[in-house]
This record gives sequence, structure tokens and C-alpha cells, in this order.
Amino acid sequence: MTVPDLSIATLGPARIDSKLSGMLDAWRTTEHYVSEYDRVLLDDIVSVAAARGTSVAELPSLEPCGPRRKLFFDPSKTRAGIVTCGGLCPGLNDVIRGLVRSLTHHYGVRRVTGFRNGYQGFVASYGHGIVELTPEYVGDISMEGGTVLGTSRGHQDPQEIVDCLERLNINVLFVIGGDGSMRGAMQIAEVAAERELRISVVGIPKTIDNDIPYIDQSFGFQTAFSRAAESIRAVNVEAKSTPNGVGLVKLMGRHSGFIAAYAALANHDADVVLIPEVPFGLDGDDGLLEHVRRRVRDRGHAVLVVAEGAGQELLAAAAAGERPGRATTDASGNTALRDIGPYLRERMIDHLTAAGIPPSVRYIDPSYAIRSVPANAYDKAYCLRLSHNAVHAAMSGRTAMVVGRLRRRFVHIPMSLAVSRRNQVDPHGDLWMSVLEATGQPIRFGQVPEPVAEPVAARTRRKRVAAAG
Ligand code: F6P
Repeated sequence: MTVPDLSIATLGPARIDSKLSGMLDAWRTTEHYVSEYDRVLLDDIVSVAAARGTSVAELPSLEPCGPRRKLFFDPSKTRAGIVTCGGLCPGLNDVIRGLVRSLTHHYGVRRVTGFRNGYQGFVASYGHGIVELTPEYVGDISMEGGTVLGTSRGHQDPQEIVDCLERLNINVLFVIGGDGSMRGAMQIAEVAAERELRISVVGIPKTIDNDIPYIDQSFGFQTAFSRAAESIRAVNVEAKSTPNGVGLVKLMGRHSGFIAAYAALANHDADVVLIPEVPFGLDGDDGLLEHVRRRVRDRGHAVLVVAEGAGQELLAAAAAGERPGRATTDASGNTALRDIGPYLRERMIDHLTAAGIPPSVRYIDPSYAIRSVPANAYDKAYCLRLSHNAVHAAMSGRTAMVVGRLRRRFVHIPMSLAVSRRNQVDPHGDLWMSVLEATGQPIRFGQVPEPVAEPVAARTRRKRVAAAG
């Protein structure tokens, strides 16, 4: 069994007394707190831990988050930077505010600089100004969704970013972003190290998709799925109030169906949940369309929740031979998805009409509405704790790491590990089992089409066009 590298890089020995060390003297490891000298075990299943065949002390373990008695940086001479990257997520402003307040009030850092519009904010040619972030500036920002700093997708040259950090004498940089942004943050840390600059780069992972591995939940996810559950409630009311009502909600979730799964559980009105991790077929007696027909016939209505990344193989098969006619990736390098919502809606209308039960389909795509809202109380508290822990880590000289919570423990995770794979709903896991229990849908729908690679489809189209003269 492979053991991932769980070690955390540091910039050097921490020799400066922390103002927080007095408080720490009153703390010791209990089941609710892990001291800075202890470790958090990675495995939580006896059979997995036992299979490693090693002593408990040698089991893979992570460094706990929290204040350290000794700091690497002298707070009075430290300048911090903050940047938000990628798509919006509830809680971004809460994290910014938490970072600024902790740096200022816990440590006495005097200058915190905000970079505007993601990594573009470091690059001179974009001309985005910087903003001095003070406790006064960030006072009310968490009342609003979005990010006061602005954000953008896309890669920027890490050399230019480090040039900018050097020019501004930034010692610690906090990157709030998803996996692409964390890859960028790793490069920034690498370039800084190559130049022998003592710059700590600490990430606070952000994504409403909840697809960052090694953490229980990313901030903003709970707010996002709570808002998504509202859309399910709405289509359910609509579907129940009309003859042959069918409610369909399409939710964000490119590769991971956590939003769809949790929103459906929170709401418990959905009859079917479709996620990218579980391919499905439409046709045949065991296909999705017949399942919906039977549900409408027997109960008068049906509610479906589909994650945007679900059923892409169906759409690719349906579109095989079409000219792509659109970008195949976005600025973050994510594959552009075909739109499963309208496709499912049309297929259901056709199928039910042909079966003699013309449906009233109510379709909602809340889209950005689920991620542009302010964080709920749970996420606000979570954001604050993550930001405090990010500041503690950076001030102690740790770098190229993210903060996260794993089974209730806040831990330091190497950035390389946080981007090493994608967290997805396990079709054999207990979450998906709960979804099946809640919806009553079968384990599988129909025959799943073979994947169709986009370039082949595009080539076929070109050949046809050429053959047609
Ligand atoms: O990655 C998070 C996410 O919300 C996805 O669920 C969604 O596909 C994507 O961002 C859309 O973001 P944008 O339109 O900003 O690229």
C-alpha cells in the first residue's frame, strides 16, 4: 500500500516567540485538540491501518493545524498578500476577512495587500491596482457574496507573479482557489524557492463542487447545496400541482456530484439523482425514461436532479458527427460540457408524449445562483477557522500547503497532495447508498453508451463535409 508524502515544507527554523504561546501553554492533546507536537492519523479504518503492517507511531499521519509557539516571520516586519482565484464560492469574503483580522489582531502584521482579479492581479500588463486590506476595510464584506478582490480563471506566469511579490516585499501569500489555482500556487512556491526567497505560500481550498481530496468538505459547499435544495423544493411544488408534472433541476458539478447528492438528501423530494460518477442509459425497459414514465403513471409526478457533468457520454453520442463549434476547454483548462438539462427535458417530453402521458415539465437551472450567495452560518464559522489556521501555518514558516479539515481535525496538507486527484462521489460509498435509499431509484439505468472521443466526432464531421463536396 503506497504512503503519500505527507510532510510539510518549511522555510527554515522558527525562532521567534509567538504572542499566542501563553495561550498554548494551557492546552494539551485531548480528544478535541491535537497539540503541535502530535499528529493526526490518515487512516480511520482498522483493516486499512492494519494492512500497512507497521507500528501505530509509523502509520501515515498529518500535521495538525493551530498556532505554534515559535514563528518563522517577525510579525512587525511581515507583509502579507491575499488573492482569490477561479469561480465564485460562498465564503470567499469570510476567508479574506478572517485572514486580515488574524494577521492584524493575533500577530500584529501591519500590511496586508489584496491582489485583484485572481493571478492577473500580479501581472503588470493587466494594470489591476492593489488594495490595502485593513480590519476596517474588511469589516462588513462577509454580508455580501462573491469576493471583494475580484477573481479570474487561468494560468499566469509564476516568474512574473514572484517578480511582483518581490517588488512588494510580500513574505506570506494566501491563495484562495480550486485545484488549478493550487497548482499555480505550487509553482509560485517553487519559483520563490529557486530564487531563495523566503515566501510562504499557503492555500485555502475553495470549490462548491467539494472535489478537493483529503478534506471532509470545502467551504461554501454547504451553503451552495442548501441553495440548490431550494430549487428542488420549487420544482417539486410545481410538479405536484400539475397533471403529469415532471420537475427537473440541473445543478453545478462538473466531475463530482456532491451538490446534486446532498441537495437531494437535504430536500428528500427527488425521485432520481444523476451524477457524473454514475453513467446512465435512457432507453429500454430499464432505462431512465421508462422509470420516469412509470413514476408519473403511478404517482402523478416525478422530480429529477441532474448534475451538469452527468450523462456526457449520452450527449457525446447524440452529437457524434457534429462540428464542435465551441471551445472545448475553459480558461482553467476544464473540459467544456454539453448541456444535459435541456437534452433530458426534450427526451422526457418526447418519451412521455409518445406513451400517451404528455407531461408538464418544470425545468430549473439555478446555475450561478447557488454560488453567488453569502455563506450560511455554518460556512462562515468554517471559513473563519480555516483562515485562522492558514495564518498560523504561514507565520510559522510553512509553505506549499493547504489547510483543511479531515474527520473534524484541522490539518496541514501538502499542496501536491491536494491536487493529486479529484474527490468524487464513490458509487460504492455510503453517500450514494443514502441517495439510492432516499430516491428509490435503481442502482443502474439502462445501457450506457460507449464513450465517444470529441476529436473523432469532429473528424467524422470533417470527412462528411469533405465527401459532400
Ligand atoms: O468548479 C466550480 C464550478 O462551480 C463548477 O461546478 C462549474 O462547472 C464551474 O465552476 C462554472 O464556473 P464558470 O462559469 O465560472 O467557469
